[in-house]
Amino acid sequence: MMFKHIVILTGAGISAESGIPVFRSETGLWENHRIEDVCVPEALIRDPLTVHEFYNTMRRSLPSKEPNPAHRAIARLQQEWPAQGGQVTLITQNIDDLHERAGSMQVIHMHGALKSIWCTACGRRFYWDEDSSPDSKCPHCGKPALRPDIVFFGEMPYHMDEISDALSDCDLFLAVGTSGVVYPAAGFCQYARAAKALCVEFNLEKSAVASNFHYGRYSKAGVTVPSFVEELLTSGKAQGWNEA
Ligand code: APR
Repeated sequence: MMFKHIVILTGAGISAESGIPVFRSETGLWENHRIEDVCVPEALIRDPLTVHEFYNTMRRSLPSKEPNPAHRAIARLQQEWPAQGGQVTLITQNIDDLHERAGSMQVIHMHGALKSIWCTACGRRFYWDEDSSPDSKCPHCGKPALRPDIVFFGEMPYHMDEISDALSDCDLFLAVGTSGVVYPAAGFCQYARAAKALCVEFNLEKSAVASNFHYGRYSKAGVTVPSFVEELLTSGKAQGWNEA
């Protein structure tokens, strides 16, 4: 087997074919909302109802979205690669639950998750599948101090120690459907390169950090990711990479 530890980073583009809008496009999610109204810590103080409602709307839409072939291919790789002696770490910037619903068991949600809520009074997190509001009470301490468990701009992404360990250990790094403009995720490829990993991006077009990758597959992730995974599982090698 060629690769012992594969690290996969996904972004909004992997869920685009499932009908979830990406952030940076002409019809993107932020179009009707200013980031500073819904995705910064100050917004929670200024207008918490708007912040809760913004994420309620997204959470409510999840049951109508289905994982697509790219999510399923990654879940398949996670399930089958260990049988070949390897390991797959999946990191997502997405707050949707499509990786889980595709069958991925271990998903590192570095920007938080819609199906989670965080009590700022007692610090506990809970699985959360309903609407929340500034009046919602913490199931543990009872205080009305719940906030969507989302990493806002200016806040530290979650699980950075685990991510850093995985990147420094990986020999294949794949980035799927991410524009490469939001750090620290945009810099993960450089960490993986420092660990001598082969780095491949999957996108409709070259990302802002495309030059950091060895090469890319530029088409819909729902097509390119399943074929790449199939190739990996059958040959153990990365499609299109000439080692010479
Ligand atoms: N297949 C592959 N790539 C696609 C597809 C598709 N079907 N559709 C869109 N893309 C690509 C776009 O070309 C773009 O490069 O997905 C990328 C989406 O970019 P962004 O909208 O910037 O999403 P992302 O990179 O995940 O954003 C990072 O920014 O707003 C914050 O916290 C938010 O997690 C998010 C972070």
